[in-house]
Amino acid sequence: MPLSATCRLLTCLALLAGLPVAASAQALAADIQRAEEIVMGKCFICHGAEGESSSPVFPRLAGQHAAYVARQLADYQSGRRKSSAMQPMVEGLSAADFTALGRFFETREVHLHPVDDPELAQMGRFIYQRGNPYSGVPSCASCHGAGGQGTPNLPRLAGQHAQYTERQLRAFNLRERNNDNAVMHTVAVKLTELELKAVSSYISSLK
Ligand code: HEC
Ligand code: HEC
Repeated sequence: MPLSATCRLLTCLALLAGLPVAASAQALAADIQRAEEIVMGKCFICHGAEGESSSPVFPRLAGQHAAYVARQLADYQSGRRKSSAMQPMVEGLSAADFTALGRFFETREVHLHPVDDPELAQMGRFIYQRGNPYSGVPSCASCHGAGGQGTPNLPRLAGQHAQYTERQLRAFNLRERNNDNAVMHTVAVKLTELELKAVSSYISSLK
């Protein structure tokens, strides 16, 4: 093949490869803009403008996986996940809004947070990384990752407020949170009070 034809072919390939990227970047920008409107309209009061909620009662959303966020919002809307705070927030929002909000929070900057009780967090580190082999608590890291980053199908835990994590673990245990709790119920039911507090403290220290 002559050189000029090769170059044209390469340009063509680059364009073919580049076009979908440009289109998806545009879609992302549109989603972020739509999400910003919603967040500044109501979510920021509790979750902060950048997903960095200031009160330990409200979960931090910065860095949370988009698909997980979208699924939780749909579950609040359908009532599969119950919360008197969240149900009215999702009224009138569409599935496209949930996707946009997911992409918004996933792309917010995450921060490192100090812990109140480093000794407690140190104990939680063992539970998180290794589980409790004597009572059958599995290692949290085996699913949520060694750094608590989660996966697109599994929530990120790193940096979450300890108080929120504790509440969710209790809710999984009592089956009050039952939108998708088959796995987490079997985990939470095995945790002692000390393990629950310790692991929640450790999680809050991860970035
Ligand atoms: C009045 C305070 C408040 C406002 C405003 C609010 N939330 Fe929430 N949000 C909460 C509380 C409390 C929870 C935890 C509820 C639970 O235990 O299930 C929560 C949970 C969530 C979760 C689940 C997080 C997780 O890790 O599972 C998402 C996602 C969320 N909110 C997104 C939003 C969005 C998007 C908005 C705006 C449309 C919003 N919230 C507005 C209080 C609020
Ligand atoms: C076998 C896999 C698995 C293991 C092991 C596991 N988890 Fe989970 N965890 C999940 C799944 C799946 C979900 C999502 C549940 C949902 O969508 O409602 C979840 C959700 C959670 C949530 C809710 C997060 C949020 O933002 O509301 C917390 C907190 C949590 N896990 C903590 C832990 C802790 C602490 C441990 C270790 C003691 C642990 N998990 C071990 C699979 C696992």
